[in-house]
Amino acid sequence: MDVVDPAHAVAGDDVVVAVRNLTKRFGDTVALDDVSLDVHRSELLVLLGLSGSGKSTLLRCLNGLHPVDAGQVNVGGTRVDRASAAELRALRRRVGFVFQQFNLVGRLSCLENVLIGGLGRLSLPRYGALTYPRGMRAEALTHLDRVGLADFASRRADTLSGGQQQRVAVARTLMQRPALLLADEPVASLDPENAGVVMDLLFRICIEEKLTVVCTLHQVDLALGWAHRLIGLRNGCKVLDRPAVGLNRDDVMGIYRRVEPEVTRTP
Ligand SMILES: Nc1ncnc2c1ncn2[C@@H]1O[C@H](COP(=O)(O)OP(=O)(O)OP(=O)(O)O)[C@@H](O)[C@H]1O
Ligand SMILES: [Mg+2]
Repeated sequence: MDVVDPAHAVAGDDVVVAVRNLTKRFGDTVALDDVSLDVHRSELLVLLGLSGSGKSTLLRCLNGLHPVDAGQVNVGGTRVDRASAAELRALRRRVGFVFQQFNLVGRLSCLENVLIGGLGRLSLPRYGALTYPRGMRAEALTHLDRVGLADFASRRADTLSGGQQQRVAVARTLMQRPALLLADEPVASLDPENAGVVMDLLFRICIEEKLTVVCTLHQVDLALGWAHRLIGLRNGCKVLDRPAVGLNRDDVMGIYRRVEPEVTRTP
C-alpha cells in the first residue's frame, strides 16, 4: 500500500489519498457534496466544520465504511468506491482508526491492547499477550515506548487516564503498520494539556514514520498549531483547503459561518 494508482493520482506519486467529486447522501441529506481533495505522504490534514458538516462521513468513506453515491475514493492504490469485500478487508488492515472514546478493551493490559492492532497479520485469534509471537510482543513494546508508556505495558487499560488511553490507542494503530491513520475527534474527551500531547504525538508520528494522518477536530487553535493543511467543510461542501502556515484564526472562522437558505420576501 504505497502510492495511489497513477491513473488517478494528480498531485505526484506521494499522494496517499485522492478523492474526486465525492458525493454521499443519507436519504434526503447530502452529507458530502462533490468533495475533491488529495492527502500527501507524511501530511497531517485536519478537517474542520460545524457539527453535521460531513467530517466523520468523509473519514468513513476513506476506509469504505460508507458506500459512496458518486465520485472516486482512492486510498493507497485501492479504489475504495468500487473495492470488493476482500479488497476492503485488506485496506482496513492498513488504515488505522483512532476514535474519541479510545475503544480499548478495559480489562486487558496495555500491551495486549496494542497487540490487538497486529491481529490482522495472524491467521488465528489470540487470548493473552503471551500467546502472540515474541517478535510481535517486542514490536508492541516499541510502540508503547513510542507513545511514552513503556512502563504501563502490564497495567489494565481501564486504570489509565483518558490521555494515556488515547496514546495506547495510537500505539495500537501503529501495530497495524498503517499507511494512513484516520482520527475522528481524537482529543474531544481530553483536557487541553492532554489534547496537546496527543496532537503532538500524531504530528511527530506523521513526520518521523512518514505516516499520513487525517484528523477531525473542533478546536481551531489545535488545528492551526499542529496541522500541515486544513480543510473546511460546510453543509458537506469543501469551503477551505489551505496549508496551515500563514493561516490565522479569522481565515478559519469563516468555515463556521452558517449559510441560511435564501428567503423570498413578498412586498
Ligand atoms: N448513518 C447515517 N444515517 C443517516 N444520516 C447520517 C448518518 N451519518 C451521518 N448522517 C448525516 O450526515 C450529515 C453529516 O454527518 P457527520 O457525522 O459526517 O457530521 P460531522 O461533521 O462529523 O459532525 P460532528 O462534528 O457532530 O461529529 C449529518 O446531517 C448527519 O445527520
Ligand atoms: Mg463527526
